Amino acid sequence: MKKILVTGGLGYIGSHTVVELQNEGFEVVIIDNLSNSSIEVLDGITAIPNNQPLFIQDDLKNKNSIQDLFKKHPDIVGVIHFAASKAVGESVKKPLEYYHNNIASLIYLLEELEANNVRNFIFSSSCTVYGDADSMPITENTPYKPADSPYGNTKQMGEEILKFTTNATQIEAISLRYFNPIGAHVTAEIGELPIGVPQNLVPFITQTAAGIRDQLSVFGSDYKTHDGTAIRDYIHVVDLAKAHVVALQRLLRQGNKSNYEIFNIGTGKGNSVLDVIKAFEKVANQKLNYKLVARRPGDVTEYCADTSLANLELGWKAKMTLEEALDSAWKWQQKLIAKN
Ligand code: WQD
Repeated sequence: MKKILVTGGLGYIGSHTVVELQNEGFEVVIIDNLSNSSIEVLDGITAIPNNQPLFIQDDLKNKNSIQDLFKKHPDIVGVIHFAASKAVGESVKKPLEYYHNNIASLIYLLEELEANNVRNFIFSSSCTVYGDADSMPITENTPYKPADSPYGNTKQMGEEILKFTTNATQIEAISLRYFNPIGAHVTAEIGELPIGVPQNLVPFITQTAAGIRDQLSVFGSDYKTHDGTAIRDYIHVVDLAKAHVVALQRLLRQGNKSNYEIFNIGTGKGNSVLDVIKAFEKVANQKLNYKLVARRPGDVTEYCADTSLANLELGWKAKMTLEEALDSAWKWQQKLIAKN
């Protein structure tokens, strides 16, 4: 079995990708410092049949640990790199922590790939690199806008580091620019586990529906959209996880057309906050308690992906609907309540 290192593999997207990798017959080593995840996620992964990844609790900023890891696992043929801090608001308050954590760990990791002649690298990027794009849908050629948060800037910098590093070394890389991941695994063994008050829309919705939060605040109802609320491209996290597997397989069979490629990973369909609320009410068969309030600073009016390049080159397309994603999120929330 081909062995893959997944950094941040106990995180939301990482854990779902670990499951899809093992479904495809890969052997998986996870490194995670548990700063934004919990060891329970490993129990969730192993509760899903045929999922027995090796877990190493460590921090990518510990350069010696990374060197030891590659010495212990010389048969690693690829790396999928999720480990990073990702809260936009927090990054504005703690820029140096974000640059240190997100950039230093990327550099240490790439140095070890080069030293150990590991060729295949998948980078977790984000639609955030586009900033407030002028036109929709967004293609991979849509130019960057100056980042409006250190988090978004670390994703832009990470992509630039890969562009120049792949030109100068044996490393071949693919960046996947995620739009808005939502939902949970069909088994409800793994899902989104926000720590504290959820920043993202869907976990706040499910926690409100579960009575954990009193009321959802809808940030902004005066955007230039069909109903005044902001639009995003919500993609089921399992569709997103599968995109990582096909991107890795592209590199492993040397199907990539250049040593650094970038793909938008979304559904190509935009939904407003009110669209999501209405879809959730239908799926959960209950009314959601929400109120319209002022815009959240830093939010853009719309993000929607043009995914034709990933469809064509990766042969990948999102399959699940908004309702299916919301249904899986609601089932996961109910499982969490039953467990506690
Ligand atoms: C979605 C919409 C909010 C919460 C973030 C990161 C981005 C990427 C994806 C990492 C917006 C509205 C939200 C709430 C609301 N992550 N909302 N009430 O901001 O589009 O993207 O996650 O790569 O980098 O910025 O996602 O879920 O926070 O917001 O009305 O309580 O829901 O204003 O319009 P966002 P989100």
